[in-house]
Order: sequence, then structure tokens, then C-alpha cells
Amino acid sequence: MTVKKKKKMIHQFYKMKEKGEKVVWITSYDYPTGQFAEEADVDMILVGDSLGMCVYGYKGTIPVTMEQCIYHCEAVRRAAPNTFVIGDMPFMSYQISVEEAVDNAGRFLKEADCDAIKLEGGTRVIPQIRAILDAGIVVCGHIGLTPQSSGQLGGHKAQGRTVESAQVLIEDAIALHEAGIQLLLLEAVPPEVGKFITDLLPIPVYGIGAGMHTDGQLLIVSDLIGQFQAFTPKFVKKYANVAEVVTNALRDYGKEVRSGAFPSDEHCYHMIEGEFPKFEELIKKYK
Ligand code: KIV
Repeated sequence: MTVKKKKKMIHQFYKMKEKGEKVVWITSYDYPTGQFAEEADVDMILVGDSLGMCVYGYKGTIPVTMEQCIYHCEAVRRAAPNTFVIGDMPFMSYQISVEEAVDNAGRFLKEADCDAIKLEGGTRVIPQIRAILDAGIVVCGHIGLTPQSSGQLGGHKAQGRTVESAQVLIEDAIALHEAGIQLLLLEAVPPEVGKFITDLLPIPVYGIGAGMHTDGQLLIVSDLIGQFQAFTPKFVKKYANVAEVVTNALRDYGKEVRSGAFPSDEHCYHMIEGEFPKFEELIKKYK
């Protein structure tokens, strides 16, 4: 019998940091992986705008809309009622104005029952972050490689690899903390930078490609289960090869349909006892 999981809330993530316990965080975009995450005792789910690539086949995250994000958050929440779920604010849902940012952040809570929101950027999004926090919403910051502004970063490149760039990250992390964010995500930065920011800030600091010293790790579920095929960032470890398993299953199914091996009798419904002779009488009328 599975023991019902107890949902961890924000204060528990702070306690975990104090005790040096690592947080396990993955993305999920749909009901099945949401269920698997809950069953596997994952601490936190991000319904990332990476769904643009992992679910919709876009080249990046830029085309992703609020509607898509809410829709996927709803599915994940239904699957994982006892997991901390973070909604990811898509491109142009918080950049235009503080009012729009608050309105859109609120939608993740009102419509999809998320526990928190995440948005990308450092000092330049502080006004939006302050206003979202004033609305009583838990905010996770995200700095380092920020895919929504990868054009300005010169592509999907690791950040903080020079002293100058590391200093920008440190200043951003301090500014976000001072603005009041409760969680911070570092993406694609050297472990030394990940460690320094994790030790510097009293809030939980998690990493995706930020080394081993952060308070927890995030991976994109489609990468870690070996489902996403287009590219694999350096920081990804694949724990399964779902693409191979599924492709082989589909190939085997195809072979059996074509050869007539499927369906066999065990996959057929049979007529209720005593009905078959009557059925034979019936079909004579049509011959
Ligand atoms: O959308 C997402 O999955 C993310 C991660 C890449 C951090 O923002």
C-alpha cells in the first residue's frame, strides 16, 4: 500500500536548507508525469515554459502562452495534489507592466492552484517581483542562463564563467533576495558560483546545471527520462531511455498488426453466453 505523501510547504524548504537536506525538483507538464513525480516522492514540480520544446515541439520557449502554462499546471496539479507546484511565467506575461505581471501571476494560483510562481531575470524585474510578493504570492527567482532572454545572452550559454559575469549574478542574487523572493534558481553557472550564492543567501537556492553545492537540484523531466531528443545540455543526466522504450514498443505493435498477431483471442470481447446462436440466425438475414 502506498503511504499518502505529505505536501511540503515553503517553510519546510527553509528547514531543509538549515539541515543540509537536498530538495528534489523536476519539471512536469502533464498528468502522467505528475503522478509519477508524486509517487516517486519528488519535493517540488516546476511546470516550466520548457513545455514549449518538450510538449509542443517549438524551437524555444518564446512562443509559449499564459493559456498553455495554465492548462498544463491544471493537469499537473490534478495529478500531484500533495506536491509543491510552481507555475512558470512565460515570455511577455510579466515584462510589459507591473499590473500585467501581478494579474498573470495570480492566474497560476486562482486557476491552477499553484503554490508559487517563477520568473526569469535579475534587477530588471524587481518592480514586478515586489508587486507579485505584495499580492501574497510566493516567488522563485531565476538567474544565470535565462532562456527567455537567450538572444541577449548570445544563445543558450552558461553564465558566470568570468569574474565580471559572476559578479553580475551575485549582484542580481542579492537584489532579488532583498526584494523578498523566497526561492532562487540558478541555471548553468559554475559550481563555485553556485556554492557562493547558496552560502551567501539565507533562502533556498536550487540549481539546474549549477553544480553540486546548491540546496537542491532541478532537471527537466523529458531530459532525465530520455524522452526529449532535439539536444541534451551538459548538465543533464539521463536516468532512463523512454524514447527507445516507446519507439521499440511502437515498432513491435506495428509488426504484430501487420502480421495479424495482434489482436489475439485474449484481447477480444466475446458474446454473452447463449447469444451466439441467435447472432448466427440474425446475420443469415443479411446474407
Ligand atoms: O522552463 C523550464 O523548465 C525552466 C528550467 C529550464 C529552469 O525554466
